[in-house]
Amino acid sequence: MTTVQIDERLNESGERTLAEDVLDGLTRPFKELPPKHFYDTRGSELFEQICELPEYYPTRTERAILHARAAEIASATGASELVELGAGYATKTRVLLDALRAAETLERYVPVDVSASTVAACAEQLVLEYPGLAVHGLVGDFERHLSHLPPPSGPRLVVFLGGTIGNFLPGARRRFLRHIAGQLGPDDALLLGTDLVKAPAVLEAAYDDAAGVTAEFNKNVLHVLNRELGADFDVDAFDHVAFFDTEHEWIEMRLRSRAHQTVRVEALDLDVHFAAREEMRTEISAKFTPARLTADLEAAGLDAAGFYTDPEDLFAVTLARPAG
Ligand code: AVJ
Repeated sequence: MTTVQIDERLNESGERTLAEDVLDGLTRPFKELPPKHFYDTRGSELFEQICELPEYYPTRTERAILHARAAEIASATGASELVELGAGYATKTRVLLDALRAAETLERYVPVDVSASTVAACAEQLVLEYPGLAVHGLVGDFERHLSHLPPPSGPRLVVFLGGTIGNFLPGARRRFLRHIAGQLGPDDALLLGTDLVKAPAVLEAAYDDAAGVTAEFNKNVLHVLNRELGADFDVDAFDHVAFFDTEHEWIEMRLRSRAHQTVRVEALDLDVHFAAREEMRTEISAKFTPARLTADLEAAGLDAAGFYTDPEDLFAVTLARPAG
């Protein structure tokens, strides 16, 4: 019996590339790069390090919430398959897989990730750890390739963890939630991890750690552009900036040019001018209140069936179901 299947959906026609994102982003009056390009091999490594930092509470808090609630989530959903958006190495997923296995409903795991090597390695590992588990990986971008999910084998639990939903601007966030909701049948559910609004000092420390790992993660995107697009960014000529925007309730990361400089992006035949102290946005990470979360879910046609937090209300995991 074949228990591992992997569908490759990246690089199909109509794909928006790094080059297009960079051309768009660096020719705007307020320069911007989308955060998805952080995650090359080095960037993924740095992100793993961020997750271990004392200041970066989201990862360990979400893990603790899942640990405390996994059995409840398993029995509430009766899911036979777990679909994970942005699966990575599926570290937190094991808590849920264990609970679904204990509930004797688990049949299949469907990781969705842009990295083919990560999906393959994760699939191989999981079929060893969970005898009888089928893994059907989807190599693709969860913003574009959700309609390529394999047909469901039974009640499906779609999980989108880590607070990555925070990377979307508000309008795009609602569109994306609606898109997910459109993939759910009446017996399916969505499990969504979101970081919560809290004291700005706590938030800002999480995105500007004392060891400088987040700063390196932020600047790594310039190495990506140098390598992939033949750019000549002097990475040390930019400073890491992270602040909580209290009006929008999101963390914003930027790179600030130390001096007036011109950067060449060879692959785009583009010269980009930066003024001294000019800032380029590299990420927003939205923070939620329960009210905002409920409103966003409702707008997407979803009802919150469970809202799980930690004792300090740092992070939330929400179980949502199609409304009606
Ligand atoms: C992976 C998007 C959830 O927003 O907290 C961590 C990325 N950026 N430190 C987040 C990130 C800076 C992270 N997400």
